[in-house]
Amino acid sequence: MSLFDGLTPLPPDALLGLMTAYRADPRSEKFDLGVGVYKDLAGLTPIFSSVKKAEAKLIAAQDTKVYEGQRGNTDFCGHVEDFVFGKSHPARKEGRVISFTAPGGCGALFQGISLMRKTGTRRVWVSRPTWPNHPNVVKSLGLDVKEYNYAVGGVFSPTSMLEDLLQAKEGDGVIIQGPCHNPTGIDFPVGFWKQLGELVRGKRLAALIDVAYHGFADSLDEDMKGVRAFIAAAGEAMIAYSCSKNFGLYRERTGCFLVVGESREGIDAAYTHVADNGRATWSMPPAHGAGIVATILGDAALRTEWDTELTAMRERMKSLRVSFSDALVAATGSNELAQLRLQNGMFSQLPVSAAQTAELRDKHGVYMPTSGRINIAGLHPDHIPRLAEILAPYLKG
Ligand SMILES: Cc1ncc(COP(=O)(O)O)c(C=O)c1O
Repeated sequence: MSLFDGLTPLPPDALLGLMTAYRADPRSEKFDLGVGVYKDLAGLTPIFSSVKKAEAKLIAAQDTKVYEGQRGNTDFCGHVEDFVFGKSHPARKEGRVISFTAPGGCGALFQGISLMRKTGTRRVWVSRPTWPNHPNVVKSLGLDVKEYNYAVGGVFSPTSMLEDLLQAKEGDGVIIQGPCHNPTGIDFPVGFWKQLGELVRGKRLAALIDVAYHGFADSLDEDMKGVRAFIAAAGEAMIAYSCSKNFGLYRERTGCFLVVGESREGIDAAYTHVADNGRATWSMPPAHGAGIVATILGDAALRTEWDTELTAMRERMKSLRVSFSDALVAATGSNELAQLRLQNGMFSQLPVSAAQTAELRDKHGVYMPTSGRINIAGLHPDHIPRLAEILAPYLKG
């Protein structure tokens, strides 16, 4: 009897299974709407040219591979602090902000939930629907998952979100996604962020803001306004920042974990726990991706080049949204899908059932997860009319 015989195998990752099934599908007409990474017109996920240049510069200048220290690349951390708080936020001057390089946004989320647990949090609220890795990280750390209503059938429901969060108990954690909610693409206005911040402060919740698509909605500055309003109202927050999408650094595992607190003493203590948790898991953060980001953001020309590349990606996704939404409105004869235009980032969720996603895959070669999440960046403009024709009967209700 082997040590591992008693283990019950876990179900395979649904999204990876979908990708494998898509690749194995011999039909000439097939559409991959499930993929979770940015795609260009050629269906590729290219390396930014600013990243290529920064990488060359970094490698040429590098003279050691010795560990960088517990916070990883501190220049990188400083740039992310600039993004999240702005350069002159009083909490930064007063030493009430800490930041650590983390292995991707997921490493930062892991730090956030671990820190919550240290403060006594036993359950964490996530949006319904949400990105499946949120409940996954929460459960892997032994905490319970609660859900707050976010959107039903593509419509944001602020009242039920607030009603659900009012059920939260003091010390509960809550994950709130920053710009470009995954999977719905639905973001809320700055005023609602402020209201949420007040609720979090009033109920003494532990908030973790997940920023995985900075720059994918409107602009680098605009995209952070809600998060900043939240921080101003809540006073305290943890932030998980990912550079996977906006720098295209997926496999380099580049992220940052930040905490802002109201007392210097509390934040100093939090620092030791975050450092200790990092030490016990990955020991030292990865350096390469953070080095690339710090090189780009610390060099005026490279920074402009990166911003231009990011803007082009955003504009491409926006124009695909408009074409797709127009095509669906025309094909269904209903204005319901016009809301896709108002959504942000890579994802939107189509109002289809799990059974319908299976039928779409089997009958028409249209691949999407059972949640109905589609990757807007994965659409090819030439395929939009045909896709709208296939999808219309399913979207008419
Ligand atoms: C909502 C959300 N949070 C966080 C992440 C972090 O990803 P990574 O760990 O690759 O930076 C992602 C990436 O897909 C995401 O969609």
